Amino acid sequence: MKQLVYTSIIDTSVDFEEIHRLLTKAVENNKKKSITGMMVYSNDYFLQCIEGEAKDIDELFKKIVKDKRHYDIKLLGKKDIEKRYFDEWNLGFINNSKYIKKLIETKTGVKEFEPYKFDYENARDILYKLSFMI
Ligand SMILES: Cc1cc2nc3c(=O)[nH]c(=O)nc-3n(C[C@H](O)[C@H](O)[C@H](O)COP(=O)(O)O)c2cc1C
Repeated sequence: MKQLVYTSIIDTSVDFEEIHRLLTKAVENNKKKSITGMMVYSNDYFLQCIEGEAKDIDELFKKIVKDKRHYDIKLLGKKDIEKRYFDEWNLGFINNSKYIKKLIETKTGVKEFEPYKFDYENARDILYKLSFMI
């Protein structure tokens, strides 16, 4: 199994309704492919982790990279995993900046959510912790 973490910036044309549409479709698709994961939207950034069969993860990431609803996609890393981190969620989502701020501050000492500065493990751990706050 593969796990992948990336971050990106939301396009200005995307409103909350569009995010909702995106999530509904993503959960439906991920369920079919047994893909699990977690996504945070905060401070105009997306941070997402997806995990599943290597082929499915590569296919999904190709689609995600082409999606016009975000840009400057930065792959933070991709790793082989034995066990899923987000097995409860086909795509968990959180955008409550109160939780995020506090967690980021404790984890990194930085107040702003700036996921481009995170490394793979750091980002994955933050997403993992946030998955318990949904
Ligand atoms: C930030 C972001 C995260 C996304 N995450 C997923 C995802 O986890 N699963 C998924 O199927 N699509 C996801 N998408 C949407 C895909 O880019 C694409 O629109 C969708 O998979 C197309 O589905 P379809 O081929 O069934 O029409 C995401 C898009 C964005 C912008």
